[in-house]
Amino acid sequence: MKLSSYERAMLDGEQGEARRIAIAGLVQLGDAFGAEDMVEIGYAHIHAGMALYLHDVELMEELAAIGAKMAVPASANIANADMANWRQTGAPETLVRLQQRAEVAHQKLGSACSFTCTPYWAGHWPTWNMHMTSIESTVTVFCNSVLGARSNRDGFFAVYAGITGRYPRFGYHLDVNRRGTHRVRVETPLETVSDYSALGFHVGRLVGDGVPVFEGFPHRPGLDELDALGATLATAGGVALFIVPGITPPFADLGQAFAGPAPHDAIVARRTDLEAIYDQFTTGDGGFDLVHVGCPHASFEEMKIYARLLDGKQVRDGVELWVTTSRQVRQMAADAGIVRTIERAGGKVISDTCPMSCHFARTTSPDPALGVEPPRLRAIVVDSAKQAKYVRDMIGCDTLLTSTERAIETALGGAFRPRFGDQR
Ligand code: F3S
Repeated sequence: MKLSSYERAMLDGEQGEARRIAIAGLVQLGDAFGAEDMVEIGYAHIHAGMALYLHDVELMEELAAIGAKMAVPASANIANADMANWRQTGAPETLVRLQQRAEVAHQKLGSACSFTCTPYWAGHWPTWNMHMTSIESTVTVFCNSVLGARSNRDGFFAVYAGITGRYPRFGYHLDVNRRGTHRVRVETPLETVSDYSALGFHVGRLVGDGVPVFEGFPHRPGLDELDALGATLATAGGVALFIVPGITPPFADLGQAFAGPAPHDAIVARRTDLEAIYDQFTTGDGGFDLVHVGCPHASFEEMKIYARLLDGKQVRDGVELWVTTSRQVRQMAADAGIVRTIERAGGKVISDTCPMSCHFARTTSPDPALGVEPPRLRAIVVDSAKQAKYVRDMIGCDTLLTSTERAIETALGGAFRPRFGDQR
């Protein structure tokens, strides 16, 4: 792999041990994927250090201890506990104290303590053609598809990229991979953000790690709708980039999206396909322990919607409502009186984590000393097919998937309100 003199100096240890380790890891990654050289990145969304995984926080602490610093703007991904308001989630204190150590490590590393899966709502907004890295697939797909940045679906290498400001040139950093592979025609009304979530899940399953190109949206999708669509494309499949001509930079039409004639055959998404996703993620006897909205972590605009739906009302006795968002959006919402409205109605505004990322998860490997005993949950009402899939896989309980509006009605009324009238 061709390295610049600057990168070679890093590899020779002239810029310290942390950078030497990081660039050596990236060279190995690049060699494995046949990269010819490195790109300069402008942003890194990096690993939080997860308290539920054995020694994971220590990994971030060790990097901070040897002097690692972020060379580019960086934000931390979602964590396993709300580090400030953890009591309202029932998280074990030992887990929280360990998670808080990750926050100290990030302060030393110079990364923003965002602890969110939607750092763009918290002010990290990479621009068209900016190379970047991300450990979170929702961030990768949003930044590629909505902002026109260039990112792969990375793992821990995102931390190394942040430390060096470099990343091997392969995958979605190359033009040749940024073109459509599947044509998708939307022939269903999309009336609520969760419909975009269901659409993404349906299409993601069909295209795998392809690049779907969408046409036929009933209206120009907004940012929250695109966010929901990308999150599930990346969950049900391995999608890192989707194209909506006229929205995704720089693709103005189908021809540009496919770099040639568009394929004649298209995947057609109909209302019955969406219904099937809602049905798939609605199981159990209708009983539930928790209603959750805010997956991916809510934007300020979504927080406004929740507050409007809850204003002057009261969550039913015995029902728990979680609204998850980043700490930065939480602060904006607090300043606007939105948090007060949600809390007055009985909702809990939670940051840094989400149901599937918190101590509810049964498929992680917590240190026995943490004393984490995941609660046995019957079901969680959700408005995101991504959250639904991971609740199923990681918490192992039933889900009831519906729209945001109906999820909040469920919390207010105490009985499940399906997205479609005939959905059970
Ligand atoms: Fe974020 Fe958790 Fe959903 S990490 S995308 S809120 S499953």
